This record gives sequence, structure tokens and C-alpha cells, in this order.
Amino acid sequence: MTNQKLLCGQVLTYSGDPFVGAWQDAVHVNSSGGVLIRDGVIEAIGNAATLQATHPDAQVTQYGEKLILPGFVDAHVHYPQTGIIASWGKRLIDWLNTYTFPEEMRFGDPAYAAEIAGRYLDLTLSNGTTTVCSYATIHPESVDAIFEAALARGQRVVAGKTCMDRNAPDGLRDTAQSAYDDSLALIEKWHGVERAHYAITPRFSPTSTVEQLETLGALWAKRPEVLMQTHLSEQVDEIEWAKGMYPDARDYLDTYEAYGLLGERGIYGHSIHMEPREMDRLSEVGGAVVHCPTSNTFIGSGLFDMAAMKARSIPVGLATDTGGGSSFSMLRTMAAAYEIAQLRGVALHASQLLWLATAGSARSLHLQDHIGSLKVGNDADLCILDLASTPAIAQRSTRATDVWEAIFPTLMMGDDRAIADVWVQGQLINKVQQEP
Ligand code: GUN
Ligand code: ZN
Repeated sequence: MTNQKLLCGQVLTYSGDPFVGAWQDAVHVNSSGGVLIRDGVIEAIGNAATLQATHPDAQVTQYGEKLILPGFVDAHVHYPQTGIIASWGKRLIDWLNTYTFPEEMRFGDPAYAAEIAGRYLDLTLSNGTTTVCSYATIHPESVDAIFEAALARGQRVVAGKTCMDRNAPDGLRDTAQSAYDDSLALIEKWHGVERAHYAITPRFSPTSTVEQLETLGALWAKRPEVLMQTHLSEQVDEIEWAKGMYPDARDYLDTYEAYGLLGERGIYGHSIHMEPREMDRLSEVGGAVVHCPTSNTFIGSGLFDMAAMKARSIPVGLATDTGGGSSFSMLRTMAAAYEIAQLRGVALHASQLLWLATAGSARSLHLQDHIGSLKVGNDADLCILDLASTPAIAQRSTRATDVWEAIFPTLMMGDDRAIADVWVQGQLINKVQQEP
């Protein structure tokens, strides 16, 4: 019995970044392509007929006109906010105090954390997302829960304990010392175990004291191989609040830089209202930003400036920002990214949107040599898209005169019905029916 598998269909590959130069030079769709998988890894990519002839023992799955692409990579989420997604009527600070903090308080209970972590990963898998980079809560148990749920599903996941020692309610604050100790213990417990990656996670500068930011900066200096994630310049009120709390800082980014929390492995969520110095500095250092378009409209934050980031070659990931974002779907997220770019006068191409949701996000997490693109040696984490999943989409895609016109309606109008199959490490995932 062979352990080789061959998936045949329309195969999407990139030879470069479609934001650099002409997108046509960076992307290729092979309409009769094949992806050969062995031991959970991509072994070969090519024409289906050739691969079938040279590997006659491989188990074949025929996907016809469906699109075979990497599993989506969601570069900024809060899995503990699954239960409060789509909460009405608040902007960032009130939204945190009203909905988020009371819910996050519940994650000291390991059973509750495990229930939500499992539910979250099943929901995102059914939307074609195979890797997420998640904030947990201040409770170490909440980090164990997401890594254990990922381990059970064979998934590559990035996560970290959220650190907050001020401006959060009783029961949801740690201290500078406990944030350091707990984060270090979690790095030692989880980082590099199977497919687990740790990110040091100060929530944002308004919820940390200077002492806590300094302590976490020292931890990152001691363990520079891990990632560091936080929030940056999301809402105008928040920026004023942060600057008021750190009067010596030149700008919001400086509230991190001053304490050792700016670096190449740093991931800065939202990054909407950026001053030129902040973008220039990020570009110099090589840190990544993450675009969270459904969140940025849902909480009323603002319009991310993709062109300014790309002009400076700043790595950009794409994310749902569950539960500030209003969807678990990276398809819906690509649609929102398209709409926001349109409001800024830029029409992102389908190849660029798909790149952001896969290779771009993987790059922002420094995981491009494992996930986010169909290349030999990468993990066989795949998503199969049905380009005619609803009557509304089908009636549009059948008029298409080329493959991009066939793909675009699914990016704009698709949801979990468009996800035909999901593969994680070369294993087909059975869709989990969620209890209502
Ligand atoms: N800024 C600080 N915490 C959060 C959060 O949980 N969600 C969002 N969208 N922004 C934040
Ligand atoms: Zn966030």
C-alpha cells in the first residue's frame, strides 16, 4: 500500500510576489495540474497526467475544475473571542470592556478553554484555514488549550499568552514578573513541539506597564527565535490614549521600540493610522503588519493603506481578527480587503488577494518554508475551492473568459460552501458539523 497521494485539478502556484512587478509574472494556474503528497509533505507539483504516469501507485483524487491552493493562513486572531463575534454597537475600547474582557475572563477554566479552542479550529478548518496565529488570554491554560487542539488536528499554529497588567478588570491582569515567567514556561513547553510556534504577546501598550513591556522585551532578547505579536495604531482614540500614557514616545511604534519590542520577528496587527516614521522604521527593521479588513470596518477603525506598506516592502499578512472581525472566513476577508483597497483607489487583483491569504500571511509569520505556498518540501496543507458553490456564484463564473474571472466571484461572494475539501499534513479533514 502506497502512502503517496495525488490530487488533480487546477493548481495555483506562485514563482514570486504578485505585488512586485506585474502579477502575471508571479502566478500560474495549471488547469490540468497535480500535487503529489508523501508523508504529509508536498513531493512534486506538475501535470496530473505526467505525475500519474510516473507514480502509478499513488492514490488519486480528481478535483476537476476545482482550484487546489494552499490552506489559508490567518495571521491575527483571538480564538477566545469566538463566542462574542458579531457583538453590536461598540468601538474598540468600549468593545473590549463590554464584550471581550468579560468573555476572556472565562478562560481560566481549562474545560471552557478546550471547548472553545476545539470549536474555533473546527470552524476555521471548515472555512479552509489550516494555520492561525492566535492571541490566547492571560491564562496559561488558554495557551495549552489551543496548542492541544491544534496537536489533535495535526495543525501548525502560532499562539501566545496575552499579557496585560493595567487597564483591564480584576481577574484579567497578570504582572510584569508573572507575564515573563508564564510566557517563558510556555515557550519551553510548546515552542517547536510538533507544529507549535510561540509568539510573545503583549496585548497593546495601553494594557501594559512600562515594566511589563521591558520585561517582555528582555524575554524576546533571551528567546529571539520566537515571534512577538501585538496591536498597533488601530483607532484614532486608542492612539491618543497610548501616546498619553507614553509621553516620551515619538509615536505609537516607539512605545514598543523603546522596550525592545520592535524586531524582524515582530507582527503588528492593524497598523492603520501609521505615521511615515513608523512605516519607515518598520521597513528598516523588517517587522510585519497584518491587515484585518472585516474588523477594521466592523469596529469602525479605518482604511488600511496597502500601497504605502507595499511601497516600503513591509511584509503584510491578512487576517480575520476574530472576534473583532465579523467572519471566520478568509474568503470574506479577501472580499473586505478588496473593498477597502477600492476605497483607497486601488483594485487588488485576485492573485494578490489569494497571495495575501496564503504566502503573504505565511511570510509575515516567518513560516514561508513550511506553509502558504504549493512548493516541494512544504507541508501538504491544502484547500480545495469550488468555483461554482452557489447559484449566484455559478451564474457569474460560467461567463468567465479566463481563470481569474472564474476565481474572482468566489473570493467576493464565497463562504464555507466554497470549501470543497481541506487537507492537513496530507490527511483529508472530515468536516465537523457544529452544534447550533
Ligand atoms: N486591541 C487590543 N486588544 C484588541 C482585541 O482584542 N481586538 C482588537 N481588534 N483590537 C485590540
Ligand atoms: Zn487583535
